[in-house]
Amino acid sequence: MSAGVPARSRFGATLRRDAWWVEILPVVVLLGLFGIYATVRAFEGRYYEWGPYLSPFYSPLIDPEHRWWPFSPALLILVGPLGFRATCYYYRKAYYRGFFLDPPACAVGEGRRSYRGETAFPFLLQNFHRFFLYLAILFLAFLGYDAVVSYRFDGRFGVGVGSLVLTLNVVLLTLYTFSCHSLRHLAGGAVDCFSCSASGRARHRVWKWVTALNERHGLLAWISLVAVALADLYVRSVACGAIRDIRLF
Ligand code: FES
Repeated sequence: MSAGVPARSRFGATLRRDAWWVEILPVVVLLGLFGIYATVRAFEGRYYEWGPYLSPFYSPLIDPEHRWWPFSPALLILVGPLGFRATCYYYRKAYYRGFFLDPPACAVGEGRRSYRGETAFPFLLQNFHRFFLYLAILFLAFLGYDAVVSYRFDGRFGVGVGSLVLTLNVVLLTLYTFSCHSLRHLAGGAVDCFSCSASGRARHRVWKWVTALNERHGLLAWISLVAVALADLYVRSVACGAIRDIRLF
């Protein structure tokens, strides 16, 4: 606790004079809307592909004919992207403040008498973030494949608006994933001397690249969140006939 706020202050107590609560409004609105949209789409189980396009919410597509899984195929893969975002250090800060008001903002009283951090269930699961990162990188490979396939129309090369939307989506998701704090630690953490070995120097280079992205992690988190929702919405709109895909080539 900082800025003169007592550790055991009442909820909302602060010496701050600015409108600190304004910060959490976009978080509540954006994350709330995304949560509702993604949940509806994950359970919908249709309008997830059209021509060479596959919605990122349904990739990789498993058992679409319902041979052994009677529900929406999206539910089979949800744990990967959801686990990655939910345990992300940036989103944790955002939803702890926005939805749990714990604390509502920096230097604003949260009104609790004890603090166990993330040492007990369910918050203990946040420690799995590194493993969700590995899973997220695997998902990027699937989405990259989908983006490449989206340029093939009836066996021929072509470019539709959907191809560009799916490509932009995987690029933004890649930037978000490779700006991850856990990846930065993997690249450059627990090293005493970067210049002592060839592998140390290589790790330093990678660490610098990841650090450059990591400085924009929050921004990339939001942009990629909106992009993935819009990519799904585009595929859904084309698949259900609400709009027509425009072929550029
Ligand atoms: Fe945000 Fe890893 S810290 S994705």
